[in-house]
Amino acid sequence: MSIALIYARSRNYCIGVDGDLPWRLPAEFAFFKQTTLGSAVIMGRKSYEDHNSELPDRLNIVVTRQPDYTPVPGVRVADSLVAALALARDQGKPVFVIGGVGLFREAMPLADTVFETIVEADIEGDTFVDAFDFSGWGSERVLQHDVDAKHRYAFTAYRHSRPTSHSSKSR
Ligand SMILES: NC(=O)c1ccc[n+]([C@@H]2O[C@H](COP(=O)([O-])OP(=O)(O)OC[C@H]3O[C@@H](n4cnc5c(N)ncnc54)[C@H](OP(=O)(O)O)[C@@H]3O)[C@@H](O)[C@H]2O)c1
Repeated sequence: MSIALIYARSRNYCIGVDGDLPWRLPAEFAFFKQTTLGSAVIMGRKSYEDHNSELPDRLNIVVTRQPDYTPVPGVRVADSLVAALALARDQGKPVFVIGGVGLFREAMPLADTVFETIVEADIEGDTFVDAFDFSGWGSERVLQHDVDAKHRYAFTAYRHSRPTSHSSKSR
């Protein structure tokens, strides 16, 4: 099963402030949507409560330790990352872990792909993703966007692909 992470971070690795994203970047949001459509999206409870709705045309799974947690209809609940991955596998869906910090950290060793958007800003937020080391991975720039009337910050999106064991051996 394919497992990917997807996030947008500032130069100083900030991903959130006050339970929300630190920016509004419509083209980055469109990239997130286009990349994750048709897949399972696994998110922590706080990331879910950032929007409190189902991301359409995706299998939405919220991870929480609260046994009676009730999201909106259509959104599934799992009590661990492992349980969420099992749910996605049962439905035959590729997986995107979409945050937050703890789920990124837990899923990173399992991920074959990481979509990382770097936003050209230094943000004084309260939520910071780990500075994952992608040396040895294949990294490809997949989107670049400049500042314009709708985008306060420029950003660049990368797809980092973990080398397969075969290609590792051949190095
Ligand atoms: N820039 C981006 O790409 C991006 C992406 C995602 C989120 N964000 C931002 O990041 C912030 C939220 O992220 P966060 O790291 O603070 O929180 P989060 O990971 O979204 O949510 C944390 C909660 O998820 C549940 N959880 C996490 N790991 C779990 C596990 N292994 N097993 C069971 N439950 C687990 C727990 O819920 P309970 O407390 O209910 O048990 C935990 O309190 C917001 O500001 C959001 O806007 C940004």
